[in-house]
Parts: sequence; C-alpha cells; structure tokens
Amino acid sequence: MKNFINLKDIPSSDLKKIILEARKRKKKRKNLNNLDIDKGNPLRGRLLIQMFEKTSLRTRISFYLAIKQLGGGTLTLRPDELHFSKGGESLADTAKVLSTYGDGFMLRTDNDKKLEEFKKYLKIPIINGLSPSSHPTQVLSDVFTVEEIKKKPISKLKICWIGDSNNVLNSLIAASVKFSFDLSIGCPKNYGPNKEILNWVKKNKRKINIFNNAKNAITDADVVFSDKVISLNDKVNKYKKMRDFKNFQINSNLMSFAKKDSIFLHCLPRGKEVSDSVFFGNKSKVWQQALNRVHVQKSILLYCFGKLR
Ligand code: CP
Ligand code: NVA
Repeated sequence: MKNFINLKDIPSSDLKKIILEARKRKKKRKNLNNLDIDKGNPLRGRLLIQMFEKTSLRTRISFYLAIKQLGGGTLTLRPDELHFSKGGESLADTAKVLSTYGDGFMLRTDNDKKLEEFKKYLKIPIINGLSPSSHPTQVLSDVFTVEEIKKKPISKLKICWIGDSNNVLNSLIAASVKFSFDLSIGCPKNYGPNKEILNWVKKNKRKINIFNNAKNAITDADVVFSDKVISLNDKVNKYKKMRDFKNFQINSNLMSFAKKDSIFLHCLPRGKEVSDSVFFGNKSKVWQQALNRVHVQKSILLYCFGKLR
C-alpha cells in the first residue's frame, strides 16, 4: 500500500511508471464506454471513499470514473454531514472507521496538516485531491498530457507557468525536479514561489527561472500553463491581487512569444488570467487535459493499491 500526498515525496521511477501504465490503459480503452470496466477488473470490489472540504467538479468525477473503470466504486462524503467536521468525532476515530469500510481515501482539504494526520491513523492509502500547498494528481496528469500531445519526454521541452505561486505551481515545480524539465515562471514581484520549495529545488541540484515579466518567461516556451489568480479559499485582498496581475494575462499577443507549435494548458476552473481567444483557440488543450485526469488517476489508484508492476 502506498500514499499519494506530494510529488516531491514519491520516487521519479514510480511517477514514470504511473504515467506509462496510464498510456497503456488509455490506448486499450479506445472503443469502450465511460463505465465499461478494464480487462482484468484489477480493483474489483474496492471502495474509494472521497471527501471534499472544498468545491470540485473534475477531481470528483474523474476519480469516480477512474475507480469504476478498474472495477471498484466510490462513496463521496460531504464533511458537513459527518460528526468529524463538527468536532463531534476525532480525526483518529474517523480515520479508523474509514479504514474499516473503505479501501482508499481521497481527500481535498483546506489544511495540509490534515493529510498527515489522516495518514497517521488510516490503514488504507490516502490520496491528496488538492490542498493549500499542492495538487499532485492534477500535475502528474498534466505531465502525461504534455507528453501525449508533444510526443516526446517532458524533459526535452521548455515549460512555462504564468500566474500565481499556488498549490498547482508547487506541484509543477516538484514535477520539474522529478522529471528534469526546464521551468520558467512569470509572476509579479512579491508573488514568487515560497522559499521552502525553492530551497528544496536547490537541494536537488535543479534550477527554475523566475521572471517578473510575462514576455521574458514565455519566450520560446513549448507549453504554457496558467491557473486562477484567486484560488479556493484564498484569503487575500482580491482587488489588489487582480490589479497586481494585470500584466500577466495570457492573451494572443503574449502567446505569440511562445513557440509556434506551443500549447496552452489550464487545470480549470478559470478566471480572467486567460483571454477567451487563447482559452478557446487552437493551442488550448484544456479539455483533453481534463479528460486525462481519469486515465492518470487510474494508475495512481493501482499504485496506491500495490497493483502497479
Ligand atoms: N482541476 C481541478 O482540480 O478541478 P476541480 O476543482 O473541479 O476538481
Ligand atoms: N489553484 C486552484 C486550483 C483549482 C483546481 C485552487 O486551489 O483553487
């Protein structure tokens, strides 16, 4: 049994294995319907319990489809219906009960410590479905999407992020170390990645490029990523932050500095950080990106359940 909490704690070789398995399984499903089960029924009879402390569309449905396609099922909990979130039952007792009824637990939380606490008491694998500091299932799936579209290892590509230094970027930075790719970040002054993650990059003998100018960051990029300026439960002065990011919108003019055959990716939901012309333009691969969550999360589940060779 393995947990899936942060990319930086998972060996590169395991992450690459997960991607390879997703590629193989996706190919084999070409003519199957959404709820058809993969040959071999690898997670037959397994129950994934999901809990969302924050809203979700994609993560919720993609995990539902992922475990279904492997032969198992999901139960989605609303924290406001449990004793736990109201303080009537401890986290430790909740975790023990989850381990009794379920085979895996996927948690989207507003507190990173909860992931570690649950891990301590659970006897089943835990998967991080987004926390304030990371969004590992999203980013691993994005690596898959990049390699699928570009038909080459991500280590041969120039990746660019224009936007806030948030959970998705933290995971992208972790991925840049694990998969050895070139990462340039464009963000306003005072909105750069935190010191802790930068020190971790340094410790791993890698470097990322940070620019306070979007044009410099995007020049010659193969892949351009962005995300909302205001994240879920972001407790900031929203008007000030939006103003500070006004020169960092990804529009057709900015995109023209990236490579001719560059692509645009966004985990969604989106705000004003990307113009409609880019978002709906032919470089945008956001729908393929969203769908791939299913395929990569299937391999993440197999990995957690000890079924990945
Ligand atoms: N990208 C993503 O995680 O979307 P949801 O918030 O809808 O799950
Ligand atoms: N950074 C965003 C990602 C949403 C999927 C957030 O945390 O709200």
